[in-house]
Amino acid sequence: MIEAPRPSPDPAGPAVPRLLRTITLVGLMGAGKTSVGKRLAALLHVPFVDSDTEVATAAGMSIPEIFASLGEPAFRDGERRVIARLLGAGRPIVLATGGGAFIEPRTRAEIAGLATSVWLRADVDLLWDRVRDRPGRPLLQTADPRAALADLDRRRAPIYAEASVIVDSRRGATHEAMAREILGAVAAHDRAREGGPATLEMLP
Ligand code: S3P
Repeated sequence: MIEAPRPSPDPAGPAVPRLLRTITLVGLMGAGKTSVGKRLAALLHVPFVDSDTEVATAAGMSIPEIFASLGEPAFRDGERRVIARLLGAGRPIVLATGGGAFIEPRTRAEIAGLATSVWLRADVDLLWDRVRDRPGRPLLQTADPRAALADLDRRRAPIYAEASVIVDSRRGATHEAMAREILGAVAAHDRAREGGPATLEMLP
């Protein structure tokens, strides 16, 4: 967990909303969940947690090692338990999830109950450009990793679309710009469902 201490207020700075409910970033590998999530957590002055990092720490192994030695079902089980623990802790955080977490029905139900989910959506060309030179993703260890990514996108997109909020990850946009876009989209989501649990408290 990366702590982001709340700095002393800057009277000249823009008003930053207070996070009341965990924001969970979902979407495919390369969407920017971790990099944008860190920025978003820093803006909100709340901890940032990456579920892949937590699973690897709990297992004492890297993600590829978990896949290789325990198999994907064991990874999914660990991922679900880690996410349930983080959401159940009650403290609002920004949580970046591994690309398959939201696809698991039980994990998705946990997220729906206790967090506001944001699908960081990106087209396959953009995702591929970001992941092609980065090893460590077991599901892309195939003869044609781009085709594997495109296949995951095709199968998963309808499920990611169940997220509370959808934000398009744009080529060239800074992490700061994407984080602010997420804030705007979540605030709009709050306004649209007045009476439901709010994610952000707008401070004067
Ligand atoms: C996976 C995505 C990875 C990691 C694991 C499986 C997936 O996380 O959890 O390799 O099923 O899409 P990132 O989305 O952070 O790369």
